[in-house]
Amino acid sequence: MFTPLETASGRQVTFNFDGREFTAQEGTPLAAALLGAGVSEFRSTPVSASPRGPFCMMGACFDCLVQIDDVTVQACMTPVRDGLVVKRIPRPDVSAEPHDSAPQGSENSREALRA
Ligand code: FES
Repeated sequence: MFTPLETASGRQVTFNFDGREFTAQEGTPLAAALLGAGVSEFRSTPVSASPRGPFCMMGACFDCLVQIDDVTVQACMTPVRDGLVVKRIPRPDVSAEPHDSAPQGSENSREALRA
């Protein structure tokens, strides 16, 4: 679906995503490098665990969140560099009972608007 552009200037570097090694041109946005390698699921939503991947590619939607050194970053705004170790954000346990810190209202707001 996605094909990386070939340029004469870039150095090829290796990075790791969830234990898999990938190669990309240094400085390529991480989201573009992963999409080009066939990875489209970057995280899951915290409420329903629905898969999410890059959407806007410009830092607006936050669907491309990943973890680098235990820090959550936007993959579309993070350039690939050699040795980068990237992790998918752990999938939430949605089978558990809702707790007080869970976001409230998003799935019930539609019901409230209809009432
Ligand atoms: S793809 Fe939208 S913020 Fe990264």
